[in-house]
Amino acid sequence: MQDFLNIQKLLDSLEEIVMVVDTDYRIIVANKRLAEMVGMPLKDVLDKYCYEISHNRNSTCVNNCPLQEVFKNGIYQKVTHIHTFWDGTERYEEIAFTPIKDKDGQVIQVVEIIRDMTESKKIEKQLIHSEKLACMGEIAANLSHEINNPLGIISGFVQRVLSKIKQDDEIYEEIKIVEQECLRCNRIVRDLLNFARPGHLQKNICDLRDVISSTIPLLGYKLKERKVHVLENFGEAPLYIKIDLNQFQQVLVNIFLNALHAMPEGGNLYIGLKLNDDSGKKKIELLIQDEGSGISPVYIDKIFDPFFSTKAEEGTGLGLSLAKRIIEAHGGKIFAKSELGKGTTIIIHLPVIEMD
Ligand SMILES: Nc1ncnc2c1ncn2[C@@H]1O[C@H](COP(=O)(O)OP(=O)(O)O)[C@@H](O)[C@H]1O
Ligand SMILES: [Mg+2]
Repeated sequence: MQDFLNIQKLLDSLEEIVMVVDTDYRIIVANKRLAEMVGMPLKDVLDKYCYEISHNRNSTCVNNCPLQEVFKNGIYQKVTHIHTFWDGTERYEEIAFTPIKDKDGQVIQVVEIIRDMTESKKIEKQLIHSEKLACMGEIAANLSHEINNPLGIISGFVQRVLSKIKQDDEIYEEIKIVEQECLRCNRIVRDLLNFARPGHLQKNICDLRDVISSTIPLLGYKLKERKVHVLENFGEAPLYIKIDLNQFQQVLVNIFLNALHAMPEGGNLYIGLKLNDDSGKKKIELLIQDEGSGISPVYIDKIFDPFFSTKAEEGTGLGLSLAKRIIEAHGGKIFAKSELGKGTTIIIHLPVIEMD
């Protein structure tokens, strides 16, 4: 019973930040969560002004201060607020202001309770993102299905026309272009379908070094044409992994093609593979590093989003989103580091299979 009457202990046991402010905006009661947030001992927080503590100011805030409003009109208020710390990190807060009045109804103090909503905000954002993805997937599946049929008919007729005209015919070149463009549309539709309805994974145990070595020749001609040299560093020991070979090759091809596209003047494409033993949890780390144009910090968070592309006509924006989905279906993670004008590194972490 004695403990329960200790108000300070009670306030300190709360998850929320609590403070009571008087009409001068001086903090007269606070709990240890406030002290932790501002990085000061609790005794130093008391008697400070709230604008000093919360906003590092030396006078009252002029605009939009709910505390001032509550003192003026005596009505409870709840607001949401993004608090930016010194190091630039942000915290979503929900702040409730409750007036304490004297017997004449005059507000003499205000209780401020701050709840950290950063985690739930993050989850809410992820939810919206995955709903958006599901919706896009649905549209993509329907659209590609609708386009597939007329495209098949056009391609069929193009083939018939080509078989009936000779190579020196004046329209031969034009029809060849129609054929190529049909193939391009086919590729886009296939990517869209893959993205919208990823196939079932057929996993087998393989040495990842062999998987990569057998994928590079698929791009042989393009590598030569672009004057891109592949530098491999795969280590001596096999790195076993359980993967769907086809889908994994698709991931690699998408990443390699992006790297080639970023190096129109040629350059080195470094592919590194190693066993990472960080924090006692073994995982395979695959690095694919180019010396290309790099990605602007404005876009870096968007590159794994479906349909995000900076390539106008040439891109579908599905390569990396598909890669991310496939890697995650293999229990892995994919992320990118990039410096504008210097190059990009795609990093993939995958679970390793240990064989005796
Ligand atoms: N290696 C890279 N170098 C520079 N930019 C890249 C690289 N990889 C991806 N990007 C950027 O990410 C975007 C999305 O890539 P992706 O999903 O493969 O779609 P697409 O290649 O069809 O544009 C690209 O349009 C490009 O802006
Ligand atoms: Mg791409």
